[in-house]
Amino acid sequence: MPVPSSYSFPHSLYARLVARFYDPVMRGMEERFLREKRRQLLTGTSGRILEVGAGTGANFELYPPGAEVLAIEPSGAMMRHARIKLNKLKSGARIELLEAGVEERRVAEAVPAGGFDFIVCTLVLCTVPDLKGAIRCFRQWLRPGGQLLVIEHIHDNRQPNRWLQSAATPVWKHLAEGCHLNRPTDKLLKTGGFRVVEEAYFYRWVPFYWGRLE
Ligand SMILES: C[S@@+](CC[C@H](N)C(=O)[O-])C[C@H]1O[C@@H](n2cnc3c(N)ncnc32)[C@H](O)[C@@H]1O
Repeated sequence: MPVPSSYSFPHSLYARLVARFYDPVMRGMEERFLREKRRQLLTGTSGRILEVGAGTGANFELYPPGAEVLAIEPSGAMMRHARIKLNKLKSGARIELLEAGVEERRVAEAVPAGGFDFIVCTLVLCTVPDLKGAIRCFRQWLRPGGQLLVIEHIHDNRQPNRWLQSAATPVWKHLAEGCHLNRPTDKLLKTGGFRVVEEAYFYRWVPFYWGRLE
């Protein structure tokens, strides 16, 4: 994956609005199912953890005491909300924030090869520009036996949903800061060299993938 030394994530008014309204917009989904799925995903984590695209910090309160988390996030606007959440958080986990995208050289430099016990990606692999490149990096950054933990919406196998997701993506990705509705993320992880430890598929308007992989 090319590793640009700087990453031009938009710092526009729109990016600030997305960050400001992210938590209120997600609240319903969080209460209905996402919070519980996050909790199930992060139960049992420990040691050194990399969280990719931490957004406003939705996972922060779920890290266990003693965990050392490096949370990377390229949007300064999202990061501002994550920092506010972190400052209010009473957690025994040590969470460090780095304003950077997964592609950036600064991340590769901050991340020792084989240095992480877990890498956490929730609702972010739909958005990273070079997913195959990111998967290669995850392989290098995890220690042997370390796990990649994922929650992601994926491309539906059923028609007409499958067609609709592809038709909507060119417009949607502009509105939702790069989010693709039609990524087969589950398949790309497996063909990218990850083995499933535990996985589940569930459906809420679109199909979601929940997985622990190593
Ligand atoms: C839908 S939000 C999810 C935020 C959070 N992970 C969650 O579960 O609520 C997607 C996040 O991915 C971030 N993102 C976009 N491109 C990225 C990249 N190249 N590397 C890391 N994060 C990225 C966005 O800035 C945004 O905060």
